[in-house]
Amino acid sequence: MKQTDSNPIPTTIVIFGASGDLTQRKLVPALFNLYRKNRLPANVRVVGLARRPYSHDDFRDRLRAGAERFAGDAFDPGLWETFAQRLWYVRGDLSVPADYEGLQAFLREIEGGPTHRLYYLATAPTFYEPVVKRLGALDIARESTAEGASADVLWRRIVVEKPFGHDLASAQSLNRAIHAVFNEHQVYRIDHYLGKETAQNILFFRFGNTIFEPVWNRRYVDHVQITVAESVDVGHRAGYYDQAGVLRDMFQNHLLQLLALVAMEPPASFDADAVRNERVKVLRAVRPITPEDTVCAQYRGYCEAPRVAPDSRTPTYAALKLFIDNWRWQGVPFYLRSGKALTQKSTEIVIEFQRPPHVMFDLPPGYRLTPNILSLCIQPDEGIHLKFQTKVPDSAQEMRSVDMEFHYRSSFGDEALPDAYERLLLDALNGDASLFARSDGIEMAWRLIDSVVQSWESPDAPPLAIYEPGSWGPTEADELMARDGRTWREGCGEHKMEGESPPT
Ligand code: BG6
Repeated sequence: MKQTDSNPIPTTIVIFGASGDLTQRKLVPALFNLYRKNRLPANVRVVGLARRPYSHDDFRDRLRAGAERFAGDAFDPGLWETFAQRLWYVRGDLSVPADYEGLQAFLREIEGGPTHRLYYLATAPTFYEPVVKRLGALDIARESTAEGASADVLWRRIVVEKPFGHDLASAQSLNRAIHAVFNEHQVYRIDHYLGKETAQNILFFRFGNTIFEPVWNRRYVDHVQITVAESVDVGHRAGYYDQAGVLRDMFQNHLLQLLALVAMEPPASFDADAVRNERVKVLRAVRPITPEDTVCAQYRGYCEAPRVAPDSRTPTYAALKLFIDNWRWQGVPFYLRSGKALTQKSTEIVIEFQRPPHVMFDLPPGYRLTPNILSLCIQPDEGIHLKFQTKVPDSAQEMRSVDMEFHYRSSFGDEALPDAYERLLLDALNGDASLFARSDGIEMAWRLIDSVVQSWESPDAPPLAIYEPGSWGPTEADELMARDGRTWREGCGEHKMEGESPPT
């Protein structure tokens, strides 16, 4: 039977590790929201697998609590009831082969015919390889063509959560294990930063306008700053975090992806591989980072947190200076920093432009004009700010920098920004991998980060700086900038500007 839009092939989303936080806080609320907006493909069902002894109804009740919290006032209990009929639960232990057979039997029973499948690894990373191997052993990862007159491919895709490996070697080994069962086009490696609306907008801003791209290069840009500051500390995740640290937790993925979006060349099309080729290409051009250009730090009190080794040297903050060796960016420093327990949550990319080459105004000696600053605020006050100089009215030559501002919420409304998981799940269901990491991209990012990790673990590692919780991080990070005559711009669009021209 040829499937038509009114009779589409159904899709099953199989979530491994379905009793965890991610399913409750992110995945199911995102799917419910897509359902509410009528954007979920028809006939999608979700089968969760975990060890807890839930019935289908227990599972639904648990997920309802998450969806309610996530949706707030927009939660519609009637709609939830119809959606919840699509949720199923299978009890199973990921280390017991027979439990996968139980899952397979359950899938056959509820699917009853040709079905697409999206496998979602929401488990602890140690289970990624075993689960993939079992899917291969049961031969339920292979794509096929629907029987009968239909030529539709019954697709099989797998979504892999982060962390994708612990270093380059483990990421390569995981890629090998996955590729033994799935082809690369079936693999969707999540980096939720790529699903953030404001991160996606970087490419639209750069390549959907004509006035920014001509100045987006070494001739006009003085330097670029990428800050991902978090006010939360490690909290209950210390067990994982103490093994990972900030470079693996935030830089290998989120910060390097933001860097790639800011610095990549325009792809010829918006096709997934064209976009990913450019992202990988720019990461390949990053010059190896030298230890002198790094700051590693830990917030005071970190070692007292439960499940942190009392003498832990795990960095909770890092600042890196790096260069991109290509035609566009030669000589332009990129400063990246991220940390926990900082003064505020703020993710921002700052493009600081060069100062005017000649100052014709009659300014006192030593005064410098404030540079133009373009700030892309990824969160929390999502928007774009452009700082430029203006003459103070009724003065002779006094100048001040002012802001041209765009805020998503005022232009598009409070509801405008969906959670990243909504977009990413929808893309995975629709087969669009542009916002997911490819195997070569993941490995390239690990190559860069591994070398810094190794230098920090070597006998002549730079000292671990200590910073106060609630601050902007260690003074060493300010010194990294000060050495180059620069300063961090802090808090989306709120930058305090030094060197404003004085009243005349
Ligand atoms: C996760 C990290 O990938 O990203 C966390 O593991 C971090 O440590 C989180 O807190 C930050 O995400 P967001 O979307 O809150 O900026």
